[in-house]
Amino acid sequence: MSDINITVEDREGNVADLVAPTDMGLSLMEFLKASEYDVLATCGGMALCATCCVDVLEGEDKLNEMSDDEYAMLDTLPDLLPNSRLACQIQLKPEMEGLKVRLHAMDY
Ligand code: FES
Repeated sequence: MSDINITVEDREGNVADLVAPTDMGLSLMEFLKASEYDVLATCGGMALCATCCVDVLEGEDKLNEMSDDEYAMLDTLPDLLPNSRLACQIQLKPEMEGLKVRLHAMDY
């Protein structure tokens, strides 16, 4: 087993501790959708819509580097935070144990 513990805060401030598998090739976006969070993921994980945006509260140093495509998409958001990431561009891995994210506020 290579499950990790992830803490997720939704847009209403509800916090939940979840267990996520890292051996299924899931992205954080896919895991959040499977966990029934309100993540539209309109582009299906192509880094083209930003509806999967999360703010990383803990564990940012454990994540993969941001690609140019991810950076370009995030840069279109009016309320981008320094710790914002596209959940579809984060592949769940064992070293991400303890990751804490908040769904990015979406007023659009
Ligand atoms: Fe569209 Fe992540 S699902 S940018």
